[in-house]
Amino acid sequence: MARKFVIASGKGGVGKSSVAAGLAGALVHQGKRVLLIDTDTGLRSLDIILGVGEKAVYDWGDVLAGNCELEKAFLRSDNGVCLLAAPATPSFKADIEDFRDMVKRCEEYFDCIFTDAPAGIDDGLRLAACAADGGLVVSTHDAVCVRSASAAADTLEKYGVSESRLIINRFQKGKVGRGGLLNIDSVIDATSVRLIGIVPEDAAVFMSATGRRIPENSPAGRAFSRTARRLFGENVPLKLKKL
Ligand SMILES: Nc1ncnc2c1ncn2[C@@H]1O[C@H](COP(=O)(O)OP(=O)(O)O)[C@@H](O)[C@H]1O
Ligand SMILES: [Mg+2]
Repeated sequence: MARKFVIASGKGGVGKSSVAAGLAGALVHQGKRVLLIDTDTGLRSLDIILGVGEKAVYDWGDVLAGNCELEKAFLRSDNGVCLLAAPATPSFKADIEDFRDMVKRCEEYFDCIFTDAPAGIDDGLRLAACAADGGLVVSTHDAVCVRSASAAADTLEKYGVSESRLIINRFQKGKVGRGGLLNIDSVIDATSVRLIGIVPEDAAVFMSATGRRIPENSPAGRAFSRTARRLFGENVPLKLKKL
């Protein structure tokens, strides 16, 4: 059975989609079959990040509407990650039950399914959360993002996702204490979510935003690889000194 995680942050621009793509790439490298579902209707980005924007003929809205078979809507990136792109229409409203059924049908093809949520903690997050067993709450270490990550975690619980883990993204050790950038313990305390990974600020993530692979030996690549292993239950220690 596939593991299903919703990736949420409350605030936009925190790195949800980048983290989704980074973890997915790492898991594929580790031999897992991975599906990303973009639920950022109207503002979709994963097709670009995975470098399959040109191939995106069908999206999951077409699957729900019966315009195409589920398998036809899977877009495979060069690094082997599969994507169900979000409908391009901002006003697209999906039926929660239909969406959940579609994710259920995806399970036979994959070991891991990530649903990349839009910003906010309302209907978009509810949809992204509806088929997930666990939440991954992404936050940077600045105080504003941390507050919205905390709200996202609380909201996920309200939507029935009782187990969430925290990923601190864009961490800059040397800048802790400056301009409202918190240390790791303060982020964990303020969100009350258990930490599963820390991804440093790394130009390799930014460079990967148009389909380029994140090198496995880059700081972010190593962080994604280690976090991906923890998602599948491996006991991989956090190397805080190396950050
Ligand atoms: N760890 C990181 N290091 C450097 N840049 C990052 C990192 N994570 C995300 N970014 C950049 O931040 C921007 C927003 O990321 P994105 O994944 O689109 O956020 P969200 O999905 O939360 O809106 C993008 O330009 C992305 O390349
Ligand atoms: Mg996004």
